[in-house]
Amino acid sequence: MRLPYHIQLRLEEREKENSFRMLGSIPPECTDFSSNDYLGLAQNKEVNQLAKQILVDSKVTLHGATGSRLISGNHILYEQTESLLADLHQAEGCLIYPSGYMANLGLLSAIPQRGDTILYDALCHASIRDGIRLSLAHTHSFQHNNLQDLEKKIKRSRGQVYVVTESVFSMDGDEANIQALVNICETYQAYLIVDEAHSLGVQGWGKVQQTNLHQRVFARVVTFGKAMGAHGAAVLGSWELIKYLINFSRPFIYTTGMPPAALATIQAAYRYLQGHPELQQLLAQKISFYKQKAHAFETTSTPIQRIIEPGNVAVRALASFLHQQGYYVKPILSPTVPAGTERIRICLHAQHTEQEIAGLIESIHQWRERYS
Ligand SMILES: Cc1ncc(COP(=O)(O)O)c(C=O)c1O
Repeated sequence: MRLPYHIQLRLEEREKENSFRMLGSIPPECTDFSSNDYLGLAQNKEVNQLAKQILVDSKVTLHGATGSRLISGNHILYEQTESLLADLHQAEGCLIYPSGYMANLGLLSAIPQRGDTILYDALCHASIRDGIRLSLAHTHSFQHNNLQDLEKKIKRSRGQVYVVTESVFSMDGDEANIQALVNICETYQAYLIVDEAHSLGVQGWGKVQQTNLHQRVFARVVTFGKAMGAHGAAVLGSWELIKYLINFSRPFIYTTGMPPAALATIQAAYRYLQGHPELQQLLAQKISFYKQKAHAFETTSTPIQRIIEPGNVAVRALASFLHQQGYYVKPILSPTVPAGTERIRICLHAQHTEQEIAGLIESIHQWRERYS
């Protein structure tokens, strides 16, 4: 059956604007500079073996959860994993969601109430913005990492104020100043929520905990599909918060639990990383090497780097040139990012060789010399 005419038009517009999205996969001959597998854990055979062992030891023989967690899906691996995570993250409570997208939806749709205010960084991830859209609270963005703008908006806000940010921003790789945000939130009795998707496993167990601010933050969201190389996410916070989510968070309540193997993999990734802190040091070395070599570009201190190449056509051409040179990077197009800031997003991994990193940067220079 054909799509309704106006829907079809939207699709055609995407094609005209050169922003049409298509599925693909990383060609085996290319070096992966696009995935969030910063520590290589998604392909680590020891993690895989450990996960199998955890599954066997748990004596859970089902391969599906069989129901939502409040009905039949709450197998022992959930309880083990949540308690391991609460312990490692030094949180009172932990609640696992099937993905980071659902954790943000689940937290932000449930906690801020009608009459409250949510203030979120303008560059927050789509899952945060979608969670906020489901809330009945007043919502406003504040300028990216702009503390003055945030403070001005807090002063004008009504009800309980919630401030939402990311410790490492997913498309830019820059960081929020968590200490300053904690100070502002404490001054105005606002509650701070930090999405640690790209910081978990890269900066210890997340930047909030690494900077010893975890007791002063209302909630943290950690996701396992990035540096942990697994799948799923968790909200970390007080017992009261976790009890509330179990009772009122619809994306938690009305969905089938995660399969036992997925929980075993999360546990395995955490245990493995606990025993291999050198992986984080190796990644830090690769980030400094990149920063040295890419001094002609703007760089960050995280594994996420960006090279701005304005225009969807130009940024696609740069990405495809780099693929031909053997480096797989993703062009990030508008409207995902504002027009004029289209970019290639480079994800550095602990396993990259210095030769691969230097080669990628050299190829970007070559392209610029030829076409810019
Ligand atoms: C900052 C941030 N939060 C949440 C998510 C969603 O996590 P997940 O992929 O587990 O749904 C992402 C994914 O890209 C992200 O970058």
